[in-house]
Amino acid sequence: MMTPVDQRDAGVVRCKHIIAREESRKMAELIQAPRGTADILMDESYQWRWLTDRLADTVGRFGYREILLPTFEHTELFERGIGDATDVVGKEMYTMLDKGGRSITLRPEGTANTARALLQHGSLAGPLPLRVFYIMSCFRYEKPQSGRYREFHQLGIELFGAPSPDADFEVIRVGDTILRECSLAHYELELNSIGCPHCRPAFHAALKEYFASHVDELCDTCKGRLERNPLRILDCKSPVCSGIAKTAPVALEYLCDDCRKHFDEVRRLLELAGLSYVINPTIVRGLDYYTRTVFEFVHKAAGAQGTVCGGGRYDGLIETIGGPPTAGIGFGMGLERLLSVMRSESAVFPEDRGCDVFVCSVGDRAREQSRLLVCQLLDAGVAAQYDLNGRSLKAQLKFADRTHARFTMVLGDEELETGQAQLKSMLDSRLLPVKLDATSIRQAIG
Ligand code: HAM
Repeated sequence: MMTPVDQRDAGVVRCKHIIAREESRKMAELIQAPRGTADILMDESYQWRWLTDRLADTVGRFGYREILLPTFEHTELFERGIGDATDVVGKEMYTMLDKGGRSITLRPEGTANTARALLQHGSLAGPLPLRVFYIMSCFRYEKPQSGRYREFHQLGIELFGAPSPDADFEVIRVGDTILRECSLAHYELELNSIGCPHCRPAFHAALKEYFASHVDELCDTCKGRLERNPLRILDCKSPVCSGIAKTAPVALEYLCDDCRKHFDEVRRLLELAGLSYVINPTIVRGLDYYTRTVFEFVHKAAGAQGTVCGGGRYDGLIETIGGPPTAGIGFGMGLERLLSVMRSESAVFPEDRGCDVFVCSVGDRAREQSRLLVCQLLDAGVAAQYDLNGRSLKAQLKFADRTHARFTMVLGDEELETGQAQLKSMLDSRLLPVKLDATSIRQAIG
């Protein structure tokens, strides 16, 4: 039978357990990245570096030059540029007040902000067409799932001041070239035209009439969109709204003569170049700035989040944010999705290379010499390392092997005396005799 003192002590122990459990739960949470974000660790980051370098090379070949933009912008830029009836602006933006009371937003995409920067710096008054690209993180408060994140990365290209179908052809071809050069085979180009401000009103009226007849079934957001922008109902992810949207009128049936001609010419240019596509009249792209051509590259094996790249023409965007009428077209390619489909198609990535030479040492004198030699090698442009932890020779060699050093070299009394050593290839155990100087070693490793 427990005495009152025993009962009190048992209660204290229970409380301590609960506090400790709560504390360890908090600590475990502390080292979890926020939902929808990902750490790209060292075993993967070299693939990113390799990929982004290649992407920059490819778009550079087409004349696109890099632009680096702030991570956040004034919220109004995205509200005006992307449109406040869109899911991105209405539901997904990371918006906050800064300490000065201004509303700022983490960039959810790269087009409106690129347009802002070029306008601010007068770049659109220079020679046109102007081609820019960016590789940037973007932020959207979406429901995370495979291929959909809250922080993700995009390669984007934007081409300003070229209204002709040739520009549409070029931008689409850049997307196709990238995917081909990433060794992808199972993707498809889907194409549509959503018209211009001349033909849009008739299309909107038809959409409004159609959705008005289903108004009771629409979600609350879409009921609001019916008046403000019925086109956006077509993006709704709710199963009921997207079911209704399946039989809604399509923009292609409402194109004016100019939009029709433009679209036909884009198609002709793609066909001439042997670039195959399918017309998908349901693509409307979810952002308000698009006009005329819209397109997506969809990977067939990637399921619901198979759109690796999406883009289109946005001839009214620059005016919307206060600039002169300027044609624009571009795309955004999701890098997480691109890497994922590359892996699913077994793309070959380069090896994650360790250092060129790991200099092991036996004894204090040799350790001094290994430090000196590594300094000389690094200055000569050779990636070299030595043991920082005073470990045994066996442990040094094991470390060199586990960190993928290309060559190892052992310095002991004999090597110091003769000024000669052997480089050992960690790939095929080949031995290369070298002098203990940076030039000789650099020549030997090639
Ligand atoms: P977007 O379709 O919203 O277009 O995004 C472009 C690409 O970014 C998508 O095709 C997808 O690969 C990737 N992406 C979008 N959201 C996510 C997400 N939550 N998680 C992972 N990947 C995602 C734009 O952003 C336009 N600014 C593209 C553009 C440029 N149009 C003209 N110029």
